[in-house]
Amino acid sequence: MRSREIISSQKSSHKSLNKVLARHSQNLWQQPIKAHTREAFNAFLGACQSSLESGFILDAGCGTGASSLLLAQQHPDKFVLGIDKSPQRLGRGELTVGEKDSLSNGLVQRDNWALLRAEVADFWRLLAEYKLIPEKICIYYPNPWPKSAHFKRRWHGHPVFPTLLKLGAPIEVRSNWKIYLDEFALATEIITGQLPVVERLSGAELESGSVSPFEKKYFQSGHDLWSLMVAGDTNLAPIPSFRGGE
Ligand SMILES: C[S@@+](CC[C@H](N)C(=O)[O-])C[C@H]1O[C@@H](n2cnc3c(N)ncnc32)[C@H](O)[C@@H]1O
Repeated sequence: MRSREIISSQKSSHKSLNKVLARHSQNLWQQPIKAHTREAFNAFLGACQSSLESGFILDAGCGTGASSLLLAQQHPDKFVLGIDKSPQRLGRGELTVGEKDSLSNGLVQRDNWALLRAEVADFWRLLAEYKLIPEKICIYYPNPWPKSAHFKRRWHGHPVFPTLLKLGAPIEVRSNWKIYLDEFALATEIITGQLPVVERLSGAELESGSVSPFEKKYFQSGHDLWSLMVAGDTNLAPIPSFRGGE
């Protein structure tokens, strides 16, 4: 089935981006971590800690987990963790019925990968608390929240964003909505002083294979697809002066 292009009243980056980022940078997000995600995190540590020594890749908002499995095949020497909050989507088509059942009690692990049901924002805060830094964080086709009023639901508009960047892990983000990535890049520049480059994925690259089910669906629907890479180990710069406002 063909998927529709993103429709939004926004024609460029959100006008409140600077103001929201300033507020989130200056006030640490205090909301208590949800018990479910802390339990999931503990299950992950208990089962996978020894596998993490050689480095791990985090597939954040992995959907079914197909992208996590692909990453695990591409990086057999690394451990790959896919997390998603949706019990319906997570593991669909990838796990046996028995494995899918056991996701509600924690995680499912096979070879060098695991799937875990958890809230991504809380999980990033737990990684920071435990100083457990992924070698790479993949955020493939995050929900775009294209309504302007929903800006704070986009990852760069969310109060967890400064914590995510302070992890210092390289972050790859892909989207079919360029404005999302332009905003993510600007928000990264505000926090780190470094502006990631937003690049269009080439047809040749996409024809050779998709990183995830959403990428495949959008490519087959003829959308332009975009990516950016946040360099790891960024030295956090002071927040520059802010432009614009709400
Ligand atoms: C558009 S889908 C993309 C799935 C997959 N990355 C792909 O490219 O095929 C976005 C996914 O992010 C998950 N998600 C959104 N917000 C989340 C959160 N706060 N914590 C965990 N998962 C989340 C959704 O459940 C959904 O599966």
